[in-house]
Amino acid sequence: MIQQTLSIIKPDATRRNIIGEILTQIEQSGLSVKALKMLHLTQEQAEGFYAEHQGKDFFAPLVAFMTSAPIVVAVLEGENAITHYRTLMGATDPEKREKGTIRDRFALSYRENSVHGSDSENSAKREIAYFFTPNEIVK
Ligand code: CMP
Repeated sequence: MIQQTLSIIKPDATRRNIIGEILTQIEQSGLSVKALKMLHLTQEQAEGFYAEHQGKDFFAPLVAFMTSAPIVVAVLEGENAITHYRTLMGATDPEKREKGTIRDRFALSYRENSVHGSDSENSAKREIAYFFTPNEIVK
C-alpha cells in the first residue's frame, strides 16, 4: 500500500549541517519527497505538535529542544512509508538502535535523535496537516 508519512529533521541535525546526508539516506531507501520546508518552531507550535506527550517528564525539555534551532519537515511517500521510515530511522531508545539506521549514524542522545517519523496512519494524517496544506504536497 502506498502511504505518506511526516518526517522531521530535528535541531541537532540542522545545526550540524547534515540535512543533505539524511535526505540522501531517505531517498536512497526508496522513499520520495513530496513536500519539504524549513521552519523554526514557536513554543506553541512545538507544544501542539507533541500534545500527546503533555504531562510527561520529558515534555518541557523536548519542546525546548525542538524550538532551539530550525527543523526541516517533509512528506515522504512510498510502499508502506510509515513503517518503512520508522525502520530506517531506528529505535528511539539508543540501546535498541539497529546498525546503519539514521539514528544509529547521527543521533546524539535519547532526545537529540535527529529525526521524527509518524507512528501510525492517523498520526501521519494529523502531522502532515499540521505543517502542510494539500496544495503544498505534489502529486
Ligand atoms: P519523537 O519520536 O520525535 O517523539 C517524541 C520525542 O520525545 C522522541 O522522539 C524523543 O526525542 C523524546 N523522548 C521520548 N521519550 C523520551 C525520554 N524518555 N527521554 C527523553 N526524550 C524522550
